Amino acid sequence: MTATSRILSLDVADFRNLETGPFVPAKGFNLVVGENGHGKTNLLEALYVGLTTKSFRAHKLGETIARGKEAARVRVRIEADGITREQRANLGFSGRSFLIDEKRPDTYATYASKTPLVLFHPGELELSQGGGAHRRKLLDRLLLYVAPMATSALTAYAKVLRERQSLLEEGTAGDRELVTFEELLVRYGREVERARREIFGLLAPQAVAAFRRFGSPGKMLALDYLTNVPEDDEAYLRMLRVNRSVDARRSSASIGPHRDDLVLSLDGAHARGFASQGQHRALVMALKMAEVGVLEAKYGTAPIFLLDDLSSEFDAARLTALLEALAERDAQMFVTSTRKELFAEALRHEDARAFEMTNGHLETVSGA
Ligand SMILES: Nc1ncnc2c1ncn2[C@@H]1O[C@H](COP(=O)(O)OP(=O)(O)OP(=O)(O)O)[C@@H](O)[C@H]1O
Ligand SMILES: [Mg+2]
Repeated sequence: MTATSRILSLDVADFRNLETGPFVPAKGFNLVVGENGHGKTNLLEALYVGLTTKSFRAHKLGETIARGKEAARVRVRIEADGITREQRANLGFSGRSFLIDEKRPDTYATYASKTPLVLFHPGELELSQGGGAHRRKLLDRLLLYVAPMATSALTAYAKVLRERQSLLEEGTAGDRELVTFEELLVRYGREVERARREIFGLLAPQAVAAFRRFGSPGKMLALDYLTNVPEDDEAYLRMLRVNRSVDARRSSASIGPHRDDLVLSLDGAHARGFASQGQHRALVMALKMAEVGVLEAKYGTAPIFLLDDLSSEFDAARLTALLEALAERDAQMFVTSTRKELFAEALRHEDARAFEMTNGHLETVSGA
């Protein structure tokens, strides 16, 4: 059991358009309002990078460095159970470092799993409408917290997959060399597939329950982990071998967990090509609430919530339902919006604070 983590402060330097520090949030609900393009998402991104080593929107972390600058820095102070720690990200074009209390953690995964958080943002509608990559990412993010060892297998798998692919495309490697890579693919691929199934087993019942609460009345959600990885390792290896020339032509391996999917069905029909816009939104909400549920079961406490601009994607009723469900959890929450009026109820709470973002400058507008 871990104590609930709360962010005490955020300091940034040369991170996108954000002015230098300190941002001191309330323990509970935090609203960041402002017009389009002023830096609200940048603020959540800074928190996300500071806590996870990754951005949820930049392809390369270098994009987050303020234009004309050489490096960006993010420093987050977090309190859990009376103990304060500092997570710090230094991002340069040629290198980066992540430190917890001035020390380098063993791996990025150690750093990223320290402070559990769940992000809700408009791009996540793809979780229901988009390709399998979005849903694999959800499972893989949970791996980080629930089965961190499998995160290393995932990294190793991706690396070996790339290496085999370049050998195939160069066309000069012999059978023995390729087999060495394919044996590694079987080993890591199997590990990834098993770990994902474990996460799937935790996520699926939570998603079904959440869909009952947030979903379309009368519709039943079912989830399935669809793998193309053969059950038997020998068969897996054989298929990799058989597919070599096909894989070389299509620039990607035909077999492996990088092609698995978490399939969502509504009353027996695949949601991706069948669900209405409203149903897609309900499905995304169910998956995100399931993500929250899996983390709560693991840590015994709620994660920190980052909600970016949901009023642009969710109608008021659904947004209210989500805020109510999250508020039950007594967790710290960061919400951005262009519309302050939607959050009047949440802002009445004594642990709530509202900020206004103008050209990267943040000002407290209400709350102690
Ligand atoms: N590397 C960078 N250096 C300086 N400024 C940047 C950098 N990257 C983005 N910006 C600026 O950040 C601003 C966008 O910030 P952000 O996406 O956080 O806006 P927002 O308040 O979330 O807007 P919206 O309500 O439209 O979502 C833009 O003005 C953009 O020019
Ligand atoms: Mg934004």
